[in-house]
Amino acid sequence: MIKKTKIYVAGHQGMVGSAIVRKLKSIGYNNILTRSHDELDLTNQTQVQKFFAAEKPDQVYLCAAKVGGIHANNTFPAEFIYDNLMIESNVIHNAWKVGVKKLLFLGSSCIYPKLPDQIIKENAMLSGQVESTNEPYAIAKIAGIKLCESYNRQYGESHKIDYRSVMPTNLFGIGDNYHPENSHVIPGLIQRFYRAKISKDPFVSVWGTGSVSREFLYVDDMADASIFVMNLDHKIYKEHTDPMVGHVNVGFGSDVTIKDLAKLVSNVVGYDGEIVFDTSKPDGTPKKLLDSSKIKLMGWNPSISLEDGLKLTYQDYENNNKSLRS
Ligand SMILES: NC(=O)c1ccc[n+]([C@@H]2O[C@H](COP(=O)([O-])OP(=O)(O)OC[C@H]3O[C@@H](n4cnc5c(N)ncnc54)[C@H](OP(=O)(O)O)[C@@H]3O)[C@@H](O)[C@H]2O)c1
Repeated sequence: MIKKTKIYVAGHQGMVGSAIVRKLKSIGYNNILTRSHDELDLTNQTQVQKFFAAEKPDQVYLCAAKVGGIHANNTFPAEFIYDNLMIESNVIHNAWKVGVKKLLFLGSSCIYPKLPDQIIKENAMLSGQVESTNEPYAIAKIAGIKLCESYNRQYGESHKIDYRSVMPTNLFGIGDNYHPENSHVIPGLIQRFYRAKISKDPFVSVWGTGSVSREFLYVDDMADASIFVMNLDHKIYKEHTDPMVGHVNVGFGSDVTIKDLAKLVSNVVGYDGEIVFDTSKPDGTPKKLLDSSKIKLMGWNPSISLEDGLKLTYQDYENNNKSLRS
């Protein structure tokens, strides 16, 4: 069935935004509005104001953000806080001004304080200090959640708006970032095992003991969860959230040790050398797992296993490598 809701996906060329566009199209939405960063700079108030006034979408997925790893966060802290605050303020305020009823803001699990060995619930936000390396980014993301909550509290009834936020765990998948300094753990491992396979290296060295655990969600599951939360009945969303804790975690629900992850990635890539753990390098927090029981109670579950997601991701990586070589 063709669905005519006019949907603006901000950040549609990014990993999450592109997955949301793919999913929306696959379920029949055919009125999807997109603008590249070059066409519309979301930090520019005038441009954003004009865009919303002209287009008046029905729904907005806010996936655009300045995103990066520890190195980028440390090197450009001013850009990380300024760009993200501006993008969120401009998009959320102008959406409200032109009467957008539904908006979904994508945050990040870095909004939570450093809590070793715990499963992180939504209400942990603002209960302690966040990781100092990405504090400016985390503060901007917290502000995005608070913007949604505050517009709902002030204008929810009078303007019939319902702005929601989702906090994804670590994501991976098609369109991931393979930048040598900025990539996350899965694209980093894929790249290293792939190179080792091509050059027939006898071993690949992985940072740390390999005993710490992390949670990963395939990006198509994230897109599915985003569309699910956007369209969830108001009453059900309200039952499971609080006006001042209005966000919902989206995770896989279980984690994996870096050792097991490295083995899985090396199998998927087809590398048959040895994996060596460099214990002189830091491990980081022993465990980081989101408590995703709320979204599960609301009726959503992930459907793509880590192994299947890795196979799809590697296929995409290989295809891109082939097209670069040809
Ligand atoms: N990837 C993860 O593991 C992960 C985990 C948790 C949460 N998230 C969140 O999910 C969201 C999307 O992440 P992602 O991985 O899809 O990031 P991404 O691949 O870097 O995509 C972000 C998109 O936003 C665009 N953008 C940045 N600044 C802009 C501006 N001023 N105006 C217009 N467009 C702008 C970027 O365009 P350019 O590239 O052209 O600048 C890019 O297309 C982010 O909010 C992120 O925090 C991601």
